[in-house]
Amino acid sequence: MTAPLLQVRGVSKSFPGVQALDHVDLDVREGEVHILLGENGAGKSTLMKILAGVHRPDAGEIQLRGAPVTIGSPKHAQQLGIGTIYQEFNLVPDLTVAENLFFGHEPTRFPGVVDFKALNKKAVGYLAELGLQVAPDRLVRGLGVAQLQLLEIAKALTQDAKILTMDEPTAALSEREAERLFVVIRNLAKRGVAIIYISHRMPELFALGNRVTVLRDGCTVGTKVMAETNPDELIRLMVGRELRDLYPPAATEPPGDELMSATFGPCSLTLRRGEIVGIAGLVGSGRTEFLRACFGADRVPGEVKIKGRVTVIKSPKDAVRAGIGFLTEDRKHQGLALTMNVRENTTMAALKRFSPMGWLQKAQEGLEAVKHIKDLAIRTPGPEQTARNLSGGNQQKVVLAKWLTTQSEILFFDEPTRGIDVGARSEIYHLMRDLARQGKGILMVSSDLPEVLGMCDRIVVMSHGSFVGELPRASATPEAIVALATRG
Ligand SMILES: Nc1ncnc2c1ncn2[C@@H]1O[C@H](COP(=O)(O)OP(=O)(O)OP(=O)(O)O)[C@@H](O)[C@H]1O
Ligand SMILES: [Mg+2]
Repeated sequence: MTAPLLQVRGVSKSFPGVQALDHVDLDVREGEVHILLGENGAGKSTLMKILAGVHRPDAGEIQLRGAPVTIGSPKHAQQLGIGTIYQEFNLVPDLTVAENLFFGHEPTRFPGVVDFKALNKKAVGYLAELGLQVAPDRLVRGLGVAQLQLLEIAKALTQDAKILTMDEPTAALSEREAERLFVVIRNLAKRGVAIIYISHRMPELFALGNRVTVLRDGCTVGTKVMAETNPDELIRLMVGRELRDLYPPAATEPPGDELMSATFGPCSLTLRRGEIVGIAGLVGSGRTEFLRACFGADRVPGEVKIKGRVTVIKSPKDAVRAGIGFLTEDRKHQGLALTMNVRENTTMAALKRFSPMGWLQKAQEGLEAVKHIKDLAIRTPGPEQTARNLSGGNQQKVVLAKWLTTQSEILFFDEPTRGIDVGARSEIYHLMRDLARQGKGILMVSSDLPEVLGMCDRIVVMSHGSFVGELPRASATPEAIVALATRG
């Protein structure tokens, strides 16, 4: 048998206070989609960054086709044929599509003189291969996420990538865009490219993967053939314990007094104490816009009443004062201060509470942070860790902790479990139900239909910027929601 394309042998990596990888093994064959699965903080992104030449391993060996290699830098990884698709793209907005594709290795007419004709012509071939319908000479600025992602893949292909790693590539894509990405991935695999694929979305793992390697606490737990395993077994492997039911039982009491009612154009909604209301709809149907309007993040004519009284909300600051908390969908940019630590992030929206006489009481802040670290199982050496150093899913949990600390009575959750592993998902769901039971009201936007159906007491459906229907929990089905969401 020939050596696998890529072999990782006993690779370890530690950061101050954290053993991120502990003797990890992985082998990846030509033409396979190899899934990397594990809880938040298990070490998936760290392994990917080692393959990308961003981090150097402390110990262990990496072999390409049986030959040991030291991946010294991102550039070196590219030269070795390892392409990496990060969640944050490395494209230059003010260059054209073709210029981005061949950035750093443009075809030239004479040394130093770029041959634009050849450049655009070559680009067309790569774009066509990925089914990307954009002109090679248009600027990258203004392209959508799905297009940017395909462009990153095309760029890796121009560098002749034999191994492509993708870290949660579907996190920001609509279902249709994700389907298109899957077609592209399957075609690449057919051509012999090996794909290392990281995601927390179980269905897509089974739709795409040939094999799966599970990491737990930085260790390899095992590698399975996808066709010979099932979601339950994988969850057991990754979590290492029995999980309680994913969704908590529904509310048993009828909802209480009105907390908020909001009207913006054709959208009008009331939220009561004790209820979790879902806003369903296709990506782009206006769900996030509605939340942002209520929160004063965008100025839209309309009216918000808090506990029956008209309240002027001109800015997020007004909204927080009125008792609204907003877990935004784009947490990295809107929710988290990356250079601040976990403690500071946890308390930053409720500083008044922690500085009763104008003095910030760090010890109190620390206690609050530690409580959330425990409740939400945030994987961090402690409250003083810089947010930037947490794994993606754990960063999200910190933003959640921040809004829990404000003790807001009205909570907006936009895609609350995106990038969150199954174990933590269940914790978050139970926590949401507890908050409702305590008399808070939760308004949730989610593209994950099972999650909407499993969590919400009633579901409002949006389409093209309008509310088009409402379904109580008892009669809500995926079909009914989709029918409303795609109508007109
Ligand atoms: N630069 C860093 N400094 C300190 N600790 C780090 C750094 N990068 C990662 N870690 C820690 O290493 C561990 C593994 O993180 P990693 O990002 O690889 O997890 P992950 O499996 O990708 O998780 P997620 O599903 O949440 O994205 C975590 O405990 C994380 O906090
Ligand atoms: Mg990660």
